Amino acid sequence: MLICRTIKEIRDFVRQARSRGLTVGFVPTMGYFHEGHLTLMRRAKEACDVVVVSIFVNPLQFGPREDYDCYPRDLDRDVSLAREVGVDAIFHPSVEEMYPPGFTTHVDVEGLTECLCGLSRPGHFRGVATVVTKLFNIVRPDRAFFGQKDAQQALVIRRMVEDLNMDLEVVTVPTVREEDGLAMSSRNVYLSPEERRAAAVLPRSLDAARRAYESGERDAGRLVELVRGMIAAEPRARIDYVEIRSVPDLKPVSRLDGPALLALAVRFGSTRLIDNLVLGSP
Ligand code: PAJ
Repeated sequence: MLICRTIKEIRDFVRQARSRGLTVGFVPTMGYFHEGHLTLMRRAKEACDVVVVSIFVNPLQFGPREDYDCYPRDLDRDVSLAREVGVDAIFHPSVEEMYPPGFTTHVDVEGLTECLCGLSRPGHFRGVATVVTKLFNIVRPDRAFFGQKDAQQALVIRRMVEDLNMDLEVVTVPTVREEDGLAMSSRNVYLSPEERRAAAVLPRSLDAARRAYESGERDAGRLVELVRGMIAAEPRARIDYVEIRSVPDLKPVSRLDGPALLALAVRFGSTRLIDNLVLGSP
């Protein structure tokens, strides 16, 4: 497995693969791998001849009071996990390689980014869209793989790829969960044992909403209240948002008569967790 620190190295690697007629799959990440990341890589392996994974904690998508400096990192462990999965190349650039002095161009996906996580994390999706555009231009993949765990991110990237005519296919992979249902996240390591136990209320509340929906509940307000009520009963949880919005355009909905996203963000101590559920097939 090749490990590239520079744009030139990874470009040379991809150019060679392409010249041999091989298809290129790409999994952008910020590292500190868990089973969610590894599942994306396995999906990419199945679907493409060559798989490139980027590991880059992107400063542009963190707010001034967010966890950029202490975001968990463990390159050695990531490299050996990626090798086990059969990844062909890792792109692990420095901040200076990605954002040299004078860097000033950004990508804004309007509309989709003004709700849910876009409200509590201003500038976040601009940072994501910008770095993902750069990574797509550097790697030039045939397919790129994103997790449903970050549902809004996946929709923003899909919209951006369509709007800017980027020549690749976006694949969304279902959320990988712990045994008690908690969505895997690099940030779960911040949780104290008590917070970790308390966080299981999130998948339980989504499950309750799914059952209510399957029993015929179509009122968005009542589904949101069901989820809010369960989470509010957990003293360690502080709700940032619980909302239902249409898919794929993330417009507010009051009745569920098409595909909809039930999305939530909840803090446990200083750790902010997100999760979601799609209701009605998209
Ligand atoms: P990161 O949080 O490292 O996630 C990398 C990819 O793994 C994302 O597509 C994310 O949705 C997916 N992922 C995370 N947890 C998952 C889970 N439990 N199940 C399935 N997929 C999961 O998302 C980012 O990095 C960054 O914003 C990035 C796109 C790399 C841009 O910097």
